[in-house]
Amino acid sequence: MLTYFFIVLLTLFLFSIYMLSSTEKYLVSKDRGRLYVDANVIANALADPLCNEEPLTEKNVKIENIDTTGTRVLICDQNMTVLYDTANVDNWAGKTMVSDMLSQAISGEDVDSFTKDEEHGYYLEVGVPIIKDSDVLGAVVLNSSLQTTQAFIEDTRTTLLFITVVISIIIGLLSSFIAELVTSPVEKLIAVTKSIATGNFDRHVKVTGTRELMELADAFNSMTDKLNDLEQKRQMFVSDASHELKTPLSGIKLVADSIMQMDVLDKEVVHDFLTDMNSEVDRLTRIIDRLLKLTKTDTVSVPSIEQKKVSINDLVQKIISRLRPIALKKRIKLEITEEVPAEAVIVEDKIYEAIYNIVDNAIKYSDTRSKVQIAIKKDEESVRISVTDTGIGIPEGEINDIFERFYRVDKARARDTGGTGLGLAIALEAVRYHGGKIEVSSREGEGSTFTIVLKTPKDDIII
Ligand SMILES: Nc1ncnc2c1ncn2[C@@H]1O[C@H](COP(=O)(O)OP(=O)(O)OP(=O)(O)O)[C@@H](O)[C@H]1O
Ligand SMILES: [Mg+2]
Repeated sequence: MLTYFFIVLLTLFLFSIYMLSSTEKYLVSKDRGRLYVDANVIANALADPLCNEEPLTEKNVKIENIDTTGTRVLICDQNMTVLYDTANVDNWAGKTMVSDMLSQAISGEDVDSFTKDEEHGYYLEVGVPIIKDSDVLGAVVLNSSLQTTQAFIEDTRTTLLFITVVISIIIGLLSSFIAELVTSPVEKLIAVTKSIATGNFDRHVKVTGTRELMELADAFNSMTDKLNDLEQKRQMFVSDASHELKTPLSGIKLVADSIMQMDVLDKEVVHDFLTDMNSEVDRLTRIIDRLLKLTKTDTVSVPSIEQKKVSINDLVQKIISRLRPIALKKRIKLEITEEVPAEAVIVEDKIYEAIYNIVDNAIKYSDTRSKVQIAIKKDEESVRISVTDTGIGIPEGEINDIFERFYRVDKARARDTGGTGLGLAIALEAVRYHGGKIEVSSREGEGSTFTIVLKTPKDDIII
């Protein structure tokens, strides 16, 4: 904007100089023409009187026919003696005038010279010879100070200066306004970009201005939306992954603890424990494989994983044997009270995780010496796995909230149980992935029943 401002200023300046000098040239040439005409009129009038050696009077000089305001008329003979001078002060009549101009005029040439300086202002001198029958008898010299022209040029200069100053101010204001219009949205973008660089991906920028800037802001906002979305997915991925990894790890720890607590090492029991540990390690490996697969896709949504027909009874049994040590610590009776053989087409690890999280909650949110009962039912449409506890229950208004990520009822009490609030969210996502749902019925202080509902496999599903 500053460059633009200076270019306009320079153009104005050059234009003013050109205007002034050409006007000055034009006016001076007009004055020169006028002085030549006057000088020639006088020279013609004097040819005869000079030839006849008559004394020069104002009458035969014919001064009255020309306007001598501001003009000094000097008439000299060919010896450069001033015969007549109109000056009132410092009259040169009778004196010899030594000047180049006069000598040139006496030699028969028309001469003129224009000068301007601080002292005399604009000053134009014209000399023409007085000729009679090809003889130069003398010369007429007119000196004129071009006051009107000078005044006009000075006026014009002042006016142009004034116009230049006014236009500069207007352009200056306009430039700073436009600069502000352009830079303020850019500054906003810079501020938001800096804030995004520090990890605040939920920032948006609101820009008003030119179409290009608004398009830039729109593109910027959709970029931050995408970043924000990715950041949320990243956080979700990290927390879910940690939660999923915790389940088999705590299983391994439990087995290791049990072996360490044995006074006498029974080979068969140790073998069983190690088999459990082995299957937990396998689960851990599978989870890590799946997580690695997820990182290779550009979304965090679950890629289609191979589903197979799984016995729900075996799956629940496996979960019970893993969680029994925890239940035993609280003297909680963990049992299957009712079951029919049931199968479902599922990703085993995911449904394992879902049931595990719900049974884990039932134990975690129950008092010591209580019961956690599991029932497996089936009809044509669905397989239902119900987990009932007689624990603390869930307040009615919060039943829907508990499936929210990181939501925990009664934060103070929940802190003692050391959860993250992710178990149910992961369970619900896993069940929904299979087209199922989770039903909850609960009474505060009496207990809760969580029921996982999965579709009964159709016979035509390929195993
Ligand atoms: N069977 C239950 N009885 C009472 N409250 C429950 C039960 N199951 C869940 N809740 C409540 O729902 C909240 C959310 O459960 P969720 O399993 O998602 O998280 P969490 O158990 O707190 O932590 P974690 O991520 O380790 O499972 C719990 O904090 C608890 O307040
Ligand atoms: Mg939980």
